[in-house]
Amino acid sequence: MIIALNNKSNFTKEEFLEYKEKLNKIQKNANLILCPTNLYIGLVEQSNIGLGAQNVSKTSCGAYTGEISATQLKSMGVKYCIVGHSERRKYQHETDEEINQKVKLLLKEEIIPIICVGEEKEERETNRQNEVIAKELEEALKDLTIEEKKKVIIAYEPIWAIGTGLIPTNEEIEKIINLIKCHLPNTKVLYGGSANENNIEELRKISVIDGYLLGGISLKLEKLDIFLEKLEN
Ligand code: PGA
Repeated sequence: MIIALNNKSNFTKEEFLEYKEKLNKIQKNANLILCPTNLYIGLVEQSNIGLGAQNVSKTSCGAYTGEISATQLKSMGVKYCIVGHSERRKYQHETDEEINQKVKLLLKEEIIPIICVGEEKEERETNRQNEVIAKELEEALKDLTIEEKKKVIIAYEPIWAIGTGLIPTNEEIEKIINLIKCHLPNTKVLYGGSANENNIEELRKISVIDGYLLGGISLKLEKLDIFLEKLEN
């Protein structure tokens, strides 16, 4: 099981250092990937927790003030990078084309992109989730070879479920994951969106899930510990 922890824009430096020490102690059998705020990447030393970034520049190294390139992430030991999170699509107006550029630059540096896809509430209500997700996948993976496509991880995150406490039914999640695996048979697919220590026993019944992308609960280690415990036992 892959468990990616998306800290988003949280923690001061001191808080993060304390968090990181505690996280090392709750390591379970799951394959944990920590995605701290990009600023703190250099504070994470080599351990059995995978290091991920939350974003990458759409350009290579060069005169791009404020940007962090895939080459720079690699040089800091980053192995994974979240791409196309709905918060970036919404607040930074990230487009499918930019997401595709980022995916390509990451793969060039052998960093595994964790590509987020998911529908809005209104799209689910009008039963358009399949077409929305198929399009997001197609655009994000445009021009990639079959071999490259095998390397990416997809995170299905219904936008209306992120940070809201709402969650699709197991059947709805399973349908979307099967749809993604139909497009990409050898790809690992995570679920994200209000997954927590209270619903994991229900979620773990979905056999096609390869892991989880966790936001809110990634910040609360006592709850994360219970989540991992319930997931594994
Ligand atoms: P959440 O966030 O677990 O707080 O819903 C998930 C995410 O945004 O990746």
